[in-house]
Amino acid sequence: MTLSVLFVCLGNICRSPLAEAAFRQEAGRTGLDVEIDSAGTGDWHLGHAPDVRAQATASRNGLDISTYRARQVSAEDFRRFDHIIALDAKNLADLKAMQPEGSRAALSLLLDHVEGREGQAVADPYYGDEAGFDVTWAEVTAGAEGLARRIGQARG
Ligand code: 4NP
Repeated sequence: MTLSVLFVCLGNICRSPLAEAAFRQEAGRTGLDVEIDSAGTGDWHLGHAPDVRAQATASRNGLDISTYRARQVSAEDFRRFDHIIALDAKNLADLKAMQPEGSRAALSLLLDHVEGREGQAVADPYYGDEAGFDVTWAEVTAGAEGLARRIGQARG
């Protein structure tokens, strides 16, 4: 059975596309059969490619996210995805507020899957400088590894 994971941040142009890319790479490396996507809670950037700084960060790490397009999270996502992973506490609160009755998706923070970083946020790099995106990359990579390990163990 294919498991499905959706990463959610605010704009879907910085953090969640990088989390999606990092997890695609990690799932490939560890042989996980998983459907992966990302979305934003906000609607400012619908249809836009990732922020150029996020694209450059992915590129420096050997990944191409230029074809990704921003979309907004919907009620249907709570039926479609097994896991919806928020990048920060506000994203998680917004997701909980819109979660439909009886939805199947399990909600968590990305860093809940990293030992010692449970409950912490992946900081928003949008208003900062380029270096902030390297911090984001390190965090989403750690999250992707932890999540892949946990899903792999749960499936035996
Ligand atoms: P993201 O970053 O949530 O990581 O995609 C942001 C992108 C856009 C905005 C804020 C954060 N914005 O205010 O437009």
